[in-house]
Amino acid sequence: MKKIRVGLIFGGRSGEHEVSLRSARAVVDAMDPKKYTVVPVAINKQGQWLSPAEAAALFPVESQRRLPEEIVSGPRQDVAILGDPSRPGLVALDGGSESSQAKALDVIFPVLHGTYGEDGTIQGLLEMAGVPYVGCGVLASSCGMDKVAMKSLFRDAGLPICKYMWFLRAEWEHDRELISRRVVRQIGFPCFVKPANLGSSVGISKASDRQTLDKAIDLATRYDRKVIVEEGLNAREIECAVIGNDEPEASLPGEYVVYDSQAAFLDYTEKYGSTGHVEFVVPAPLSKRVTARIQSMAKRAFQSIDGAGFARVDFFLRRDNNELLINELNTIPGLTEVSGYPKMWAASGLQFSQVIDRLIELAFERHRDKSRNETSL
Ligand SMILES: Nc1ncnc2c1ncn2[C@@H]1O[C@H](COP(=O)(O)OP(=O)(O)O)[C@@H](O)[C@H]1O
Ligand SMILES: [Mg+2]
Repeated sequence: MKKIRVGLIFGGRSGEHEVSLRSARAVVDAMDPKKYTVVPVAINKQGQWLSPAEAAALFPVESQRRLPEEIVSGPRQDVAILGDPSRPGLVALDGGSESSQAKALDVIFPVLHGTYGEDGTIQGLLEMAGVPYVGCGVLASSCGMDKVAMKSLFRDAGLPICKYMWFLRAEWEHDRELISRRVVRQIGFPCFVKPANLGSSVGISKASDRQTLDKAIDLATRYDRKVIVEEGLNAREIECAVIGNDEPEASLPGEYVVYDSQAAFLDYTEKYGSTGHVEFVVPAPLSKRVTARIQSMAKRAFQSIDGAGFARVDFFLRRDNNELLINELNTIPGLTEVSGYPKMWAASGLQFSQVIDRLIELAFERHRDKSRNETSL
């Protein structure tokens, strides 16, 4: 059987660059070398694309051994993906030479978290190139990135969400007093202030009075032109993994169990570091009924944003009244050795290498489905 050539794009310009390196490494380690030829492509923090040889060098030696020799010791030559379907795959940028021919890729797996990766931008490029790719398309990716757009879609689908409001940075700068009064009136304290379009808790803070609110908004407006403010909940944090295209399936839910209640909320270091304060428990200790409800809501959330491939859906289970709310959906969930997405599937009977096989099949399926559409009259 001919091996499938998979372009693995990782790194990226977002604050989640390091997590992406770890996710990509976990993907390389789990992919069956008998089935796949992995062609790594890294994007550095400045947005520059590195050649497969340079990208391979970012992995530890054990992972490099899983990559084809001709890639690891191949030419260190700049490459790009063009938005031209007649030249799919990687194109070397120095022109002329034989090695600058397009290097075919059968499918692309963007393992990029956050801005310029999870937000529809790279998906747009891959659509233009006409190459199958893993995960959500442009619309689902950008809606999954914007916490305000995402909440509107959830609400339209009848999914329960917390109380929130939003405004633009320009409005804040024009009349701070008016905005903070609106927040107090509509949301109250404690509240969570977030840039609408970022991930990994960057720019997010909890406010408990007018003074901390002003500071929280100042912080959030450094990261985005749009700010969302949510009621602060006292809640358990449950997650559920989804896989599929038009008929998605949901895993057993997992839960972040926090041992140190001093932490204001789960931030980046808590989730990806080993602070010892947090443990991801799967399956989450929940009744059968609540588990089934979470799975059904996770699938509906995925469909409400028109998801494809995979996503992780994050929930709040309120401690005061047991109400289940959807917090957010991540269209390229963390895939590291400590991440929830692979752990939830493993506990549901699907090992990570099987998850990857399925994601690649789903990418081809979606591409075939899209190819059926007529684009001209
Ligand atoms: N409305 C809220 N009430 C209570 N805690 C919250 C709320 N919103 C966020 N948090 C806490 O902050 C963390 C990060 O917020 P989240 O909206 O998930 O942003 P990110 O996209 O950065 O993951 C959550 O995992 C949770 O611990
Ligand atoms: Mg989150």
